[in-house]
Amino acid sequence: MNALEALQYRTSSPRLMDPEPTPDQLDHLFRAAVRAADHGLLRPWRFLVIRGQARSRLGELLVAAAKQENPEISVAEADKLAAKPHRAPLIIVTVACPTPHPKIPELEQILSAAAASQNMINAAFALDLGVIWRTGSPAYQSIVTQGLGLEESEKIIGFLYLGTKAGPEKPRPETNYSDLVSEWGQNG
Ligand SMILES: Cc1cc2nc3c(=O)[nH]c(=O)nc-3n(C[C@H](O)[C@H](O)[C@H](O)COP(=O)(O)O)c2cc1C
Repeated sequence: MNALEALQYRTSSPRLMDPEPTPDQLDHLFRAAVRAADHGLLRPWRFLVIRGQARSRLGELLVAAAKQENPEISVAEADKLAAKPHRAPLIIVTVACPTPHPKIPELEQILSAAAASQNMINAAFALDLGVIWRTGSPAYQSIVTQGLGLEESEKIIGFLYLGTKAGPEKPRPETNYSDLVSEWGQNG
């Protein structure tokens, strides 16, 4: 698949199965990530790879986060949350690591981490991997961020669930953008 095709027709794959991406495929993903637009070349991001049994440990964090919000959650709800990281053989957590800078606001550094995430999902699609970018409220709860070892200043930008596509592919997405684009400043 060429680059324009991947960019224009990328879709997410919520249903994933083994095998996980190969080391070579992951290498491509991270190479794409580190080419994200990055004001001042601050490299305001890092990536955690979660696979195998570590997914259960992430599941435990999701359950702990939910119990913090609502100590009454049922066993069935807790079990469902615990199983969530097992929806993919491998998860990449994109972490924004903004640092105070006189000219580059935190927002721009966070946007760069989002750009790194988008580069990875585009690259994954180009490699015919299945991928979906997820967050959910636990991504913003300290019980999860601390459990994953993030510093106070760091933020989770996304959990990129990766694997082999399971089930039929989505139809090619619509790429009509005419309602979104307008000329500015031509009159007067
Ligand atoms: C920051 C961010 C967080 C997201 N979180 C979720 C999520 O938690 N669950 C989900 O189903 N989709 C989530 N999405 C949306 C999916 O990644 C996906 O883009 C959406 O389902 C549309 O499908 P498509 O990418 O094939 O167009 C998120 C997207 C972004 C950019």
